[in-house]
Amino acid sequence: MAAQKNTTPAGAPADSAEAPPLHVAIVMDGNGRWAKRRALPRTLGHRAGVEALKRIVEAAPDMNIRWLTVFGFSTENWSRPAAEVAELMALPKRYFETDIARLEREGVRVRVIGSDKGLSRDLLKICREAEQRTAKNDRFFLNVAFNYGGKADIVDAARKFAEAVAAGRARPDDLTEALFESQLATGDAPPPDLIVRPSGEQRLSNFMLWQAAYAEFVFQDVLWPDYTAAHLQAAIAEFQTRNRRYGAVVPDDALAAG
Ligand code: FPP
Repeated sequence: MAAQKNTTPAGAPADSAEAPPLHVAIVMDGNGRWAKRRALPRTLGHRAGVEALKRIVEAAPDMNIRWLTVFGFSTENWSRPAAEVAELMALPKRYFETDIARLEREGVRVRVIGSDKGLSRDLLKICREAEQRTAKNDRFFLNVAFNYGGKADIVDAARKFAEAVAAGRARPDDLTEALFESQLATGDAPPPDLIVRPSGEQRLSNFMLWQAAYAEFVFQDVLWPDYTAAHLQAAIAEFQTRNRRYGAVVPDDALAAG
């Protein structure tokens, strides 16, 4: 079991002033409420959510973001009514059908992260094709978290390591935070600098639990289908006012304490 690079922030406190977030993660929330306000079925809210995703994926590279991880379907969303689950299952196809050629051309590498369990063969084929078509790209990385749960992600990584130990490929002492992190669904991507949740809700909902350890959070009062590049720009501006300390102190405060 080979360790990948340690992407955990280490060392001195980093000021995020001016530095753009390299990895942004978004909980795309509010499709249902958007539809309800218009007296439309929830399915139309989800379809409008796909259009918002397209806008944001187009805009993000110009904001110097390199990794974008979006929450498309959680392991808990299976408990929704069957008709809504069916609509949610159709979203990756709806997105990739229209956009995969552009993503491929524009240097975007797509990964669909999450469990395969419960997904139809057709859907898995669409997702794997999108990944294969863009596998050589490295200008921008798009992770679509689909049938994803942060707890399941951690359990899967633990299982992989336990299997390596059982097979004699690793020893318990080999386990480090960096090695563990490399086994998560986000692989060798750095952890998100910024996690955005629109729709006014302020919780993580089992999204990237490990990876969120030192992320900055920005909650915005806009429903996802209405989300535009200007909202993302505003979230980044808010991020740039934050002082990231990673548990350390800023040098001036350290002097004062001494
Ligand atoms: C949560 O809003 C949103 C979802 C469960 C689906 C998110 C999907 C998209 C935004 C479309 C793009 C996705 C892919 C995979 C291409 P909600 O329905 O819970 O909204 P509510 O809280 O207002 O009811």
